[in-house]
Amino acid sequence: MSSDAKPAVFLRQVSKKYPIYDHPSQKLLELLSFRRKQFHREFWALQDVDLVVMPGTTLGIVGQNGSGKSTLLQIVAGILKQTRGDCFIKGTVAALLELGSGFNPEFTGRENVFMSGAIMGMRHDEIRRRFKEIIDFAEIGEFIDRPVKTYSTGMFMRLAFAVAIHVDPEILLVDEALAVGDLIFQHRCINRIRRMRDQGKTILFVTHDLQAMTRFCDRAILLDAGRKLEDGSPEHVSQKYQALIFERERKSIGADQVWQGNGSAQELPVVSTIPYVHHRYGNGSARISGIILYSKDGKVANEVKADQEVLLVISARIERSLEHPIIGFTVRDRMGVEITSSNTSYEGLHLPAAAPGSVITAGFRMHIPMLRPGSYSISPAIAQGNIWEHSIEDWIDNAYIIDVLETGLIYGAMRWPVEVSFRIS
Ligand SMILES: Nc1ncnc2c1ncn2[C@@H]1O[C@H](COP(=O)(O)OP(=O)(O)OP(=O)(O)O)[C@@H](O)[C@H]1O
Ligand SMILES: [Mg+2]
Repeated sequence: MSSDAKPAVFLRQVSKKYPIYDHPSQKLLELLSFRRKQFHREFWALQDVDLVVMPGTTLGIVGQNGSGKSTLLQIVAGILKQTRGDCFIKGTVAALLELGSGFNPEFTGRENVFMSGAIMGMRHDEIRRRFKEIIDFAEIGEFIDRPVKTYSTGMFMRLAFAVAIHVDPEILLVDEALAVGDLIFQHRCINRIRRMRDQGKTILFVTHDLQAMTRFCDRAILLDAGRKLEDGSPEHVSQKYQALIFERERKSIGADQVWQGNGSAQELPVVSTIPYVHHRYGNGSARISGIILYSKDGKVANEVKADQEVLLVISARIERSLEHPIIGFTVRDRMGVEITSSNTSYEGLHLPAAAPGSVITAGFRMHIPMLRPGSYSISPAIAQGNIWEHSIEDWIDNAYIIDVLETGLIYGAMRWPVEVSFRIS
């Protein structure tokens, strides 16, 4: 932390109100009204948010869609003005906000680098000096002299990111930028952000990727409906956030759909929620439409213990006829290491051919092994073929997160069942 203990970001009771017009004509009526009559409803995107971020902190910001994350960053960036409350920033800010901000689509990449660099406070000769480094990082080649409206989303974001990090700001704001771009670029961005963090920069990082958040933030906040619900360690906030999602999910699943611990095929609930969808791929003949892990009492389980009996339910909607469907899953630890995988075919269950419009639901009943406590992800998939030769129709990476609770001391990744004996001679 820097020697003077002044916060880099200081928000006090920050609120942001948007007027909501149910019809465009209402705005006109309001403008024409002599008595200042209001024709709109009020909507508070942020409410009474207090936030003190000390220099050198990497702060993760999580929350469901529409919870106010982008609004908060835009206020910190000075792009939006809060309706109420105070916002003080100490240091130069570079912002990598949602797509589009800062770039003019009609201008070329080169022109945009100079313009957005200047907006973020870089001098012309400074930008010229770093120009090659910027376009090398963005890897967009000859596209640099074409209008950015011809860029793919990934190229656009790569260039925006390259400019933002080469501005060398004291405070970097990143809004969900890592969700676009390919994996290699994401890795480079993460390395770069990590380096900035190590240099003592302040970083505010909005993401839906809880793994990435816990990996490199040292503090996190949870926003919900414009309010700050949690503020603490990334692990704590990520758990609270998952609990919130699961609670809402549980309420949205009818009581009749809850597994009663018996697990016969007729009683398998068709599930229709997927907690996280960031990376999905496949030929698209079927789409995963839900994944839920139930504990034996029929409750949605996001926390499990060694030896606990659970039922993993995966539903998939068939888009084009599938001759030999296979439904399966992969479990990974928080570092992304595959722990195990299984599927209907591997377990000796042959699923019948499926017609378009139908929904196949598979239930995997299992006992949680004695794993090291911590967060694990489940990636569901539907494929076509057999275990040796198949095509992936839909695969969602890390769609479901579970927490394995501590039940005793475990050395290494798991407790390997051991029977010990001895003899003295
Ligand atoms: N210009 C606007 N006029 C009216 N409402 C707005 C405006 N901008 C945002 N909102 C509303 O404010 C709320 C918060 O939006 P915000 O973009 O900050 O959410 P978010 O947490 O970033 O969501 P996401 O995860 O989808 O990016 C949303 O309900 C949104 O519809
Ligand atoms: Mg947003």
